[in-house]
Amino acid sequence: MKTMLSGIKPSGQLHLGSYIGAIKQFVTYQEDYHMFVFIANLHCITLPITPAELTDNLRDCLAFYLACGLDPERSTIFLQTDVKEHAQLGFILSCQTYLGELNRMTQYKDKAQGKNRNDVLTAGFYTYPTLMAADILLYNADYVPVGDDQKQHVELTRDIAERVNKRFGQIFSVPEPVITKVGARIMALDNPAKKMSKSEHNTKGTIFLKDEPAAIRKKVMSAVTDMVNKVSYDPVNQPGISNLLTIYAALEGITPQEAEAKFSSLQYGAFKSAVADRIIEEFAPIQARYREIVGSGDLDRILAKGAEKARPIAAGTLKTIQKAIGLDIF
Ligand code: TYM
Repeated sequence: MKTMLSGIKPSGQLHLGSYIGAIKQFVTYQEDYHMFVFIANLHCITLPITPAELTDNLRDCLAFYLACGLDPERSTIFLQTDVKEHAQLGFILSCQTYLGELNRMTQYKDKAQGKNRNDVLTAGFYTYPTLMAADILLYNADYVPVGDDQKQHVELTRDIAERVNKRFGQIFSVPEPVITKVGARIMALDNPAKKMSKSEHNTKGTIFLKDEPAAIRKKVMSAVTDMVNKVSYDPVNQPGISNLLTIYAALEGITPQEAEAKFSSLQYGAFKSAVADRIIEEFAPIQARYREIVGSGDLDRILAKGAEKARPIAAGTLKTIQKAIGLDIF
């Protein structure tokens, strides 16, 4: 059985994009792969966050993994800091990565455009991709399911793995990104030119997994559309409508074109209402399970079990690379 690994950095609340682009995929793939899903808590501190917010987000992320259907009996679910090898391999890999490569990461470039960047952005933020490479390579993952925005980081991981293998012998599997065909980039409802994101201050554009039905409906009904007045899938000319079609299609497991065929005769208001209904229907059982799980005493036990399964594998890989590069004496 091939190995698959992915994670989420819960630096804010999880949203519809995290669900469609990531968690929903993890749940499907756990049937057919040796699945590792972790919570990237170290990645969360690469940008400022308060301790209380961080702790809440970590607990929520785990509770939503479970509420969405990740099964701790089937998948290895763990917290990044519970396996110390992530940080250790992250440092080693940062010594195998060139500044030019990190400079080319779009996530870094976007943030590095801001004023006072040298006094705001941290070294941890800069080396974020090498820690992500460590997350993946420690488990010799064959596949990494991610949304579109993380593809570049997985490609850098491949380059690092190939470089290390060439220099020091066959150590790492070279992972492949797995990007869902429908919904790899869910856009903000209030600005379909921007990705839906958890760090967004303007919450009108983001549907959070925790949103009440009324809030979901309100956000969808006020989603930015266009003057064409025809429901059609045309991301260039009708990005808002196309985003809503993509959301519907991803939840329904159909193509955006099939969704278009279903709604092409409707006015925008009726179409939006159908999309809101579909999201509310999808989230209702997840939110009910989330409420049960988050208050239960099971979360600690699940993380402990996941870390127990992950640690020996991570330790084995770290040992191998330490030996190969000459860090170990015995
Ligand atoms: P993060 O936490 O930003 O996002 C988690 C996953 O959700 C996907 N995603 C989206 N997909 C579609 N539409 C959107 N609007 C949307 N927003 C987010 C992301 O592409 C991602 O797959 N660096 C990673 C976390 C990480 C990781 C890893 C992932 C750390 N180590 C190792 C995979 C393997 C991140 O910040 O994702």
